[in-house]
Amino acid sequence: MEILKQGAEGRLYLGVFKGEKCLVKERFIKHYRHPELDTQITRQRIKAETKAASRCQNAGILAPRILHTDLNERKIYMEYFGEAITAKELIQRVVADHSVETAEIVLKNLCTQVGTIIGKLHANNIIHGDLTTSNILINPKSENKDFKEYDIVFIDFGLSHYNQGAEDKGVDLYVLERALLSTHSEQPYLFDYMLEAYRKKCGKDEGTIVAKFEEVRARGRKRTMIG
Ligand SMILES: Nc1ncnc2c1ncn2[C@@H]1O[C@H](COP(=O)(O)OP(=O)(O)OP(=O)(O)O)[C@@H](O)[C@H]1O
Ligand SMILES: [Mg+2]
Repeated sequence: MEILKQGAEGRLYLGVFKGEKCLVKERFIKHYRHPELDTQITRQRIKAETKAASRCQNAGILAPRILHTDLNERKIYMEYFGEAITAKELIQRVVADHSVETAEIVLKNLCTQVGTIIGKLHANNIIHGDLTTSNILINPKSENKDFKEYDIVFIDFGLSHYNQGAEDKGVDLYVLERALLSTHSEQPYLFDYMLEAYRKKCGKDEGTIVAKFEEVRARGRKRTMIG
């Protein structure tokens, strides 16, 4: 059993399901939580991940196929993208390998694609709940290991839900902006490029969503100022 990641929340490892190599995501029991509440939260997250995967599939958005879930064992078996790296890693590589100017051009292209997909998610009322560059996979197109041509695959839908309202979409964007500013503080333009592409795809509520996003962000600022 090859462990890919061992964290506080759970562990990820490679497995096999009906002959297909897959990724198994197991969530640990949290002993500080009431056992029934803990079971409920875990089930909710596994269900959210499964539902979002099928909603993405219907909307033509790439996400790992869920092959099997085991609520008792707290495990999800999903499609494994063995060649992929996270958007976080790709951004860091691009920054390391290019001049500041070239990096911004390359990353603008990536951010435009990411923003377009987030717009599509929201147009389909899928709220991701944890938009970060660690939850976006960059999967190279077959013989193309230099990441010049790739598919973008969204992952980690455990906190996702379905909501048509502008508020939740605005909050989703705010979470993303905060994550980008803290993980990629030297590239403060990333979010702007994403938002520009997002606005073209998120549907008729564009204005309301962006207004909500700005409202949530202003609330966040006020909170930081008061401390
Ligand atoms: N289907 C997949 N194929 C390839 N790599 C994956 C896949 N799913 C996850 N990974 C890798 O494992 C990392 C962690 O996965 P994920 O984000 O789903 O878990 P997590 O952040 O620990 O989960 P959670 O936030 O739900 O507790 C990802 O950042 C990515 O590098
Ligand atoms: Mg994650």
